[in-house]
Amino acid sequence: MSRIAFYPMPGNEARAKGIAQALSTRADVGLGACAVHHFPDGESLAQIQPPEPGAQAVLVCTLNQPDAKTVPLLMAAATLRDLGAASVGLVAPYLAYMRQDKRFLPGQAISARVYARWLSAHFDWLLTVDPHLHRIRALPQIYTLRSRVLRAAPRMAAWIAANVANPLIVGPDGESAQWAADVAGRAGAPMVVLEKTRLGDKDVRVTVPDLRRHAGRTPVLIDDIISSGRTLVAALERLREAATPPPVCVAVHGLFAGDALAAIREAGAARVACTDTVDHPVEAIDLTSDLAQGVLDMILPVAGHGAPPFPSIGQGAEP
Ligand code: R5P
Repeated sequence: MSRIAFYPMPGNEARAKGIAQALSTRADVGLGACAVHHFPDGESLAQIQPPEPGAQAVLVCTLNQPDAKTVPLLMAAATLRDLGAASVGLVAPYLAYMRQDKRFLPGQAISARVYARWLSAHFDWLLTVDPHLHRIRALPQIYTLRSRVLRAAPRMAAWIAANVANPLIVGPDGESAQWAADVAGRAGAPMVVLEKTRLGDKDVRVTVPDLRRHAGRTPVLIDDIISSGRTLVAALERLREAATPPPVCVAVHGLFAGDALAAIREAGAARVACTDTVDHPVEAIDLTSDLAQGVLDMILPVAGHGAPPFPSIGQGAEP
């Protein structure tokens, strides 16, 4: 097997293959098999194709719907180490549990910290895309492994430039402002940020400022995550009342829980696009080459590959 061995967890085969192909002319890469059997009693069994001695193993597993994925993933990581991998890295384009970053009510888990401890115990490094960093400002505050964060803003801004004439970037809440500002700056477009109050999982209120000075511009709602979709639905409803042109929705991670997409379309979204950090049914913004470069950057200190970087990547190392 090859020096960098990619192991896709179930459902990540195309993602791992794409990253490996993107690296094939620049590094010694290969794909290894990782199967997960589910027993009738609910336990699972990971089975890994053994890596070549000294190979750098890279598990590829995006972590939407994380509860079912996490136990097999940790089993696979521990097994790769048992089988002699020189290092075990994780490419998780979507990193779960980052939004529960404090104890909002007495007795609640601070899930982001707990999850960080689990992954840090099993992996040498982590590559991800725009984790929801809010009260936790950077991954090293909670992850003890080496981590690197890729920024999707350059690709999102390029998609907007190619697809939306005369855009007005709209952040639906304060937490989205960091992504909206980055995209607006790159797209050379004005930006407004709405005010959001979340009263429950599906009960979201949004207020919109006076948009008259942006009349005629197409609102492009930018968020990091679409989960229930209710943040965007509330924003779309207010924009409809403000009689803007039909808005476009662009997000990093399209989780689309339940009826989210139907509700977003029903509320008036003209188009919806998300990066391909998770599989989803809307227009996809491809981050494969960014992930491939990110893997090389994580592997480089160990394996010593000397290839030059891909052009126009959007990434920043954690401080
Ligand atoms: C939270 O602040 C995030 O930035 C997103 O706005 C939120 O996770 C979206 O969730 P939902 O789609 O359930 O409204």
